[in-house]
Amino acid sequence: MSSSPLQNLGQAIRQHGLVRFLEHYVREYPDAHLKGLVVDHLGPRREMDVNGRRVINFGSDSFLGLDQDPRVQTAIAQAVVRWGAHNGASRAFASVRSNEEAEEKLATWLGTEAALIYPSVSLANLGALPGLVSKRDLLVLDEHAHNSMQEGAKIAQANGARVAMFSHADPADLERVLTDAGEYRIAVVALDGVYSMTGALPPLVQLNEVCLRRNAVLYVDDAHATAVLGHKGRGTVLDALGNYDNTLVVGSLSKGFSCFGAFIGCTKDFKFLLKLRSSTFIFGGPVPPPYLDAVCVVCDILNSDEYEQIHARLEGNVRQLAEGAAKLGLVVLGGQTPILSVLVGDEEATLNAGLFLFERGFYVQSVTFPAVPYHAGVLRIQVNANHTGAAIDGLLAALAELQRRVVLPTAPTKDPRQAA
Ligand SMILES: Cc1ncc(COP(=O)(O)O)c(C=O)c1O
Repeated sequence: MSSSPLQNLGQAIRQHGLVRFLEHYVREYPDAHLKGLVVDHLGPRREMDVNGRRVINFGSDSFLGLDQDPRVQTAIAQAVVRWGAHNGASRAFASVRSNEEAEEKLATWLGTEAALIYPSVSLANLGALPGLVSKRDLLVLDEHAHNSMQEGAKIAQANGARVAMFSHADPADLERVLTDAGEYRIAVVALDGVYSMTGALPPLVQLNEVCLRRNAVLYVDDAHATAVLGHKGRGTVLDALGNYDNTLVVGSLSKGFSCFGAFIGCTKDFKFLLKLRSSTFIFGGPVPPPYLDAVCVVCDILNSDEYEQIHARLEGNVRQLAEGAAKLGLVVLGGQTPILSVLVGDEEATLNAGLFLFERGFYVQSVTFPAVPYHAGVLRIQVNANHTGAAIDGLLAALAELQRRVVLPTAPTKDPRQAA
């Protein structure tokens, strides 16, 4: 019996190695897989109801807990009345006033001349990176750069730019790649400001020195640092380099900001150029206006003295978890950001460990290949400012119980803040 083109397409997709691998997980571990969860309720202290079970959610990037802040929620509610749900037009034609205000506030907070908002970091990377380089130019990526930069690089390459990779966070290898590339008009070097799977920070000073020597601009995707690292949460770049003279910085409005979208911090001139050259800006819609009003509110919070208090709560929670995990002798990656990854190793063991914690009332993300290397599965724990001390103690107790049942990799006891 002949099958339809749509069935043939489905079969063709199923032959992809990664799809086969992931389908295997879904089939073999339907309970332990814990992906695509449907959440019925979220509470102020990260309570989450899933499948009729209440768990504490340690899987949110809303690090400061501002999604639960009444000021942020009120800003959204009031802006719905002011603007409606969505204005439904590309910003190439028109933007609501709140968009302009949010960009001005973001630039002031960040310390850049200007900021340009996109609907997500992925759309910023997919639109801006190919727009920055063309035929005579070079785009160089850290080999571990976020998927959206890798995809942006593919578009840039299809448009005629040369694309190369350098070894993860390695200034000497970046120098080698830029030297070996021969002649180019300009190079753009793209990397993450903080690597979300390990929490590691790249050596920005040394990388920027190489860029300056080799006529290259540094493009830093600081998604996980936004609102969390650096003075007033403005990320890694200004604190590391002291200026933005050679940098375009991308930040997230959907993680620490608890709103929606992304921005690129840059000069006024670059803002103008990015508007002309970012396909996702021109051919896509904007962040829904209510979220732009919320971005303004969050900027005010970050710029106020209150930020240090919220951040201290977050740091205290991260410390509590990191120290507790170190006492258990667990191998913990990260600690410089609120993401701590407990090494498990084997894929099946990682999924089962996630299920074990879930059944005890704690949701953490079981992350396996291909998001991390094969057999280097981790329990990714995202700590938030609005987690209670009791919830963190509870998670540590559950980890200790897990350790009594399965052999987890252990580390010599040391300061967990050095673990990355
Ligand atoms: C470095 C980095 N860039 C981009 C993204 C994607 O961000 P968005 O959801 O805004 O597209 C992430 C998400 O985790 C990220 O870690």
